[in-house]
Amino acid sequence: MTTRARLTLDPAFRIAPVEPRLFGSFVEHMGRCVYTGIFEPGHPSADADGFRTDVLDLVRELGVTLVRYPGGNFVSNYRWEDGVGPVEQRPTTLDLAWRSVEDNRFGLNEFMAWAAKADVEPMMALNLGTRGVAEALQLVEYATYPGGTRLSELRRAHGVDKPHDIRLWCLGNELDGPWQMGHKTAREYGRLAAETARALKRFDPTLSLVACGSSNSTIETFGAWEAEVLEETYDLVDYVSLHAYYDPSDGDVDSFLASAADMEHMIRSIAATADHVAAKLRSRKQLKLSFDEWNVWYQSRFKGEDSLEWSRHPRLIEDCYDVTDAVVVGSLLITLLRNADRVGVACQAQLANVIAPIMTEPGGPAWRQTIFHPFALTARHARGQVLRVEPDSPTIETAKYGEAPVVWATATHDPATGELSLFVVNRDRREPCALEVALPRGLAPVEHLELADEDPSARNTAAEPDRVTPRPGSGLDCQDGTATLTLPPTSWTFVRFAAKE
Ligand code: AHR
Repeated sequence: MTTRARLTLDPAFRIAPVEPRLFGSFVEHMGRCVYTGIFEPGHPSADADGFRTDVLDLVRELGVTLVRYPGGNFVSNYRWEDGVGPVEQRPTTLDLAWRSVEDNRFGLNEFMAWAAKADVEPMMALNLGTRGVAEALQLVEYATYPGGTRLSELRRAHGVDKPHDIRLWCLGNELDGPWQMGHKTAREYGRLAAETARALKRFDPTLSLVACGSSNSTIETFGAWEAEVLEETYDLVDYVSLHAYYDPSDGDVDSFLASAADMEHMIRSIAATADHVAAKLRSRKQLKLSFDEWNVWYQSRFKGEDSLEWSRHPRLIEDCYDVTDAVVVGSLLITLLRNADRVGVACQAQLANVIAPIMTEPGGPAWRQTIFHPFALTARHARGQVLRVEPDSPTIETAKYGEAPVVWATATHDPATGELSLFVVNRDRREPCALEVALPRGLAPVEHLELADEDPSARNTAAEPDRVTPRPGSGLDCQDGTATLTLPPTSWTFVRFAAKE
């Protein structure tokens, strides 16, 4: 049976401009994200800096605009000084977050050189776990002060003459979590974040700062953590962070496909919490959200940090994604766009090998996972203004989120070209959906791609890297003012509408 849904695309109903920073990613010193991921001296494709150019090409194709670095949990016991200066003099250290031996061949200056080649904005995380205000200030001075001081001259002596242009700084990572090195209570963290922010803004008031929010929506302190932290930091920071990972725990695929319901709930709850603090503090500022870790992650397969043996860039959480995972990723991107008036930064975690859209083999190929495709197409085609889209859709009963609409969608309108882009998922695993789209007269579909497969568990591997790619959609009919398309079960679809020739 085919279900039916409808929605209206009207350029008059705008949410907010498409923020390029929503298409961010994340490079952590974890597993093989850095080593043998983006950086592998000696690889046949490596450039003079040791960066894999096959990976750089894929990063550009993915359309990533911003990359958060160097963690993640890693940053909370990291000494940035160990990663700068002559490589042969850098120490080998222990990373307690992932029980990994870190030889520090890649650090701040290598990351910034890589970011320039990848054409992405850097977003740097500070260690507020085992370190504090002084070390944060020292890093920011080393990285961004032009010259003439001890630390800026040290950077210049390390071969980086011009200061790095780093606008976005995270005040620590997931300090609400007991797994974090230097875990803190909300009040302890709030005070430290506030004093660090005060010092950094004195150094450079134009820096943008991100306070740590909750690590997930199920942690006991969700909401209360943000309220307490923001009471200390509200007027000093520009964003509060959110993190979320989804997987079909207990095999509940219907709930998994509706994961965007949780992301939406998190965004609304934390926006409301921030607004409540603003009201209490009589602040007129409206805080933005930084969803700086999100993705599908099969956490049930990860036995935890304590189970890890000490090793050098091991294969850690290298999830191999299928079609269903890609549909969920597409639906999370839809949710970020739908909330573009509040979410100002978002980073898919991570970029290479570690729960990533890009996979590599040491000395071997790099390829696109299924989740690469909805990200790349959304990043490429979401332009102009995000439109308010309210599908009239059948619902599906889920154990985790109750009734969820089968059709979940967003759209953008580019006033420069007049084009409309529609991004939509069918979360029904069993039935196709006939979607009727009301749109301005004079527009016609010029591109229609879908990610779907007769086998929703199909994946891409080194042996079969293009098993799953977007395919031309079928069943699209357009009369003036109305397009009808068929969304296959468990599918992500993109349609671009442009003026008729
Ligand atoms: O992305 C993997 C880990 O997930 C990050 O290090 C941490 O911040 C989160 O818990």
